[in-house]
Amino acid sequence: MTTEMSSTEDIIGRKDVDDLEAILAIVGTEEADGRHVVHSDYDSIFTWDYEKATRPKLNKLYEKAKNAQWNGETDLPWDTDVDQEKLVAEAAHAQGGHAVGFDITGTPLETWGDKEWIELGVQSQNWTLSQFLHGEQGALICTAKIVESVPWIDAKYYASTQVMDEARHVEVFAKYLDEKLSGHYPVNAHLRMLLDDIIADSRWDMTYLGMQIMIEGLALAAFGFMHSMTPDPLLRQLLRYVMADEARHVAFGVLSLQEYYADLSAAELRERQEFAFEAAVRMRDRFLQQEVWDRMGVDTREILPVVLSAPDRNQFQAVLFSKIVPNCRKLGLLDAADGWLRTKFTELGVIEFESAVDTSEEYDAMAAVPPTQRDLV
Ligand SMILES: [Fe+2]
Ligand SMILES: [Fe+2]
Repeated sequence: MTTEMSSTEDIIGRKDVDDLEAILAIVGTEEADGRHVVHSDYDSIFTWDYEKATRPKLNKLYEKAKNAQWNGETDLPWDTDVDQEKLVAEAAHAQGGHAVGFDITGTPLETWGDKEWIELGVQSQNWTLSQFLHGEQGALICTAKIVESVPWIDAKYYASTQVMDEARHVEVFAKYLDEKLSGHYPVNAHLRMLLDDIIADSRWDMTYLGMQIMIEGLALAAFGFMHSMTPDPLLRQLLRYVMADEARHVAFGVLSLQEYYADLSAAELRERQEFAFEAAVRMRDRFLQQEVWDRMGVDTREILPVVLSAPDRNQFQAVLFSKIVPNCRKLGLLDAADGWLRTKFTELGVIEFESAVDTSEEYDAMAAVPPTQRDLV
């Protein structure tokens, strides 16, 4: 873990956040036995204070969650025919062509025809959904850990509903990948580093910060982006349900940490800022999708400098951080320690959403009632 006043290099292992060689040097390996073990040494806490609704906002969230459960097998139209190549072509047509947001002159993509562009879209979707799947398993593990380690009964109750939510998310993304798409990718090395760091940390609030605020905050924005882009009605409905759950999960993080952070010292807050910065950089690195270019036979060292210089790249990144930045602000993390995290987020080009709506109350607006629940009303 980091200590107070760490340098950028101490925190993320490189001096320059845009050092492409250092980013590409981190490559994933998949264990031969199909299992990835992360050691964690933390306290499991019993509480003898069973008084319900001591924390009314957490209790309200718990009651909401009980009524918002849906069934991944029966609430989604799995009989929908998904023609992945046709959908990629349709999505490209809607955007006015196979745009990648940068000038392809002089790049290996210059000679590509429809076949290669569609294959890139297919691989990119396989990769994105695979990373969602692995991230969801990370959320399942992190939240099970929160049930054990958080000291408040209202938070244990709520977290137990999130464990069920995450199991359902793993289930539906795995099913969609297996039945509707055309291939899996292993977990991205940067995402895995981040998940490992979060799970290995013994402090319960770091689990929340890494998972509920950073990863789930980004997931909520990424799911929203995909929901607005995909023409597949099955995927749209799947994402809509998952987003309704994720909005509660992020609210759970904000509501829990707000109380805890109010009593932390400046030095302790600085550690949390550094952790948030590390998480932001890891997530930014993973969006380079280096494995997709590898699979397409394009040299990453040739194409990624062009990708990084794309004019709308910062805009896309900022949108992904549109939930994280206002939530960090609400938690007091942007401006603690002389605004250290504000400066870092400004350097990363993601500060512009600091005044966007935070997610502590947004979950009501994002609620999606599944058909099984509608039948019961
Ligand atoms: Fe999830
Ligand atoms: Fe979640």
